[in-house]
Amino acid sequence: MSNIESPQTITITRPDDWHLHLRDGAAMASVLPHSARQFARAIVMPNLKPPVTTTAMASAYRDRILAALPADMQRAANRFEPLMTLYLTDNTEPDEIRRAMDTGFIHAVKLYPAGATTNSDAGVTDLAKCYKTLEVMQELGMPFLVHGEVTDQDIDLFDREAVFIERVMRPLRRDMPELKIVFEHITTKDAAQYVAEADGPIAATITAHHLLYNRNEIFKGGIRPHYYCLPVLKREEHRLALMTAATSGDERFFLGTDSAPHAIGAKETACGCAGCYTALHAMEMYAEAFDRAGALDKLEAFASFYGPDFYDLPRNEGTVTLKRESWTLPATVALGESALVPLNGGEQINWKML
Ligand code: NCD
Ligand code: ZN
Repeated sequence: MSNIESPQTITITRPDDWHLHLRDGAAMASVLPHSARQFARAIVMPNLKPPVTTTAMASAYRDRILAALPADMQRAANRFEPLMTLYLTDNTEPDEIRRAMDTGFIHAVKLYPAGATTNSDAGVTDLAKCYKTLEVMQELGMPFLVHGEVTDQDIDLFDREAVFIERVMRPLRRDMPELKIVFEHITTKDAAQYVAEADGPIAATITAHHLLYNRNEIFKGGIRPHYYCLPVLKREEHRLALMTAATSGDERFFLGTDSAPHAIGAKETACGCAGCYTALHAMEMYAEAFDRAGALDKLEAFASFYGPDFYDLPRNEGTVTLKRESWTLPATVALGESALVPLNGGEQINWKML
């Protein structure tokens, strides 16, 4: 940590979010300032409708994000930079990767197994169909961001990440040992252990909600849809393994919120969408988790160093300060014409980003 004023306050290098959903249009304009206040940069997920499958689409999406940034977040000192990604399909051509790499603003390609999560219908049906494209990514050093769950309905929902490791991750890494891979939003001890022990260029992002909560949270006193995300929260033993990984000082594990805005009506309904909205208070949540583990001294590297190091980007300049101070998170915030309920909406938060 660069500076500890007192145990009540921590100051760290400006952090980045290595996994974020911003959506588009008016919804994006509503949520963007929340992330831009907390983070200097974010890897922006491409699962729009339609998905961001080409360099041209990513370029136009980036322009819309930059145009929606409040003026003070466009200025040099606290400028927010969206790091764009492409959505891999069965038909993504190797040349699309070359074009993307040439832009300098597309930093990764995302794998959504078809049907795995929100807006994944156009995702990959069989990774074998993408091998030529993946070979070019391996050659150029373009990171491959993996939603690591099998989609087979006969595999128990809670086992889909562990089964993915055996069925997809191991064969892929055997075939492409130099491909840079981020195992996104890991949720199990199996994934944490796999990444910690693997040889070669692999890392993992960990969300704040998977560090703070286990699956009981979804069912506490009734069904609580705002705690439902994919991959779903797991048992306590898995949460503990994620905490150990995040606070271990291992550079393979870094911050990715997976903050995923959905309108209230799409969450509080008979068949609610997956996604937790944490962009308002993500750093406070991470500070809470690291504080509980007595590991605040490990927060800066996890939030601000290991991500850019993996992506071959410079670490940020400037700092942010988090203070131990109680405040109440808004119960709802605007989402375009609608509204969303943030995770912990209306509840007391113990840390405050100044
Ligand atoms: C994400 C979304 O809503 O776009 N939902 C989620 O539960 N995390 C998609 C994803 O990252 O799986
Ligand atoms: Zn996500």
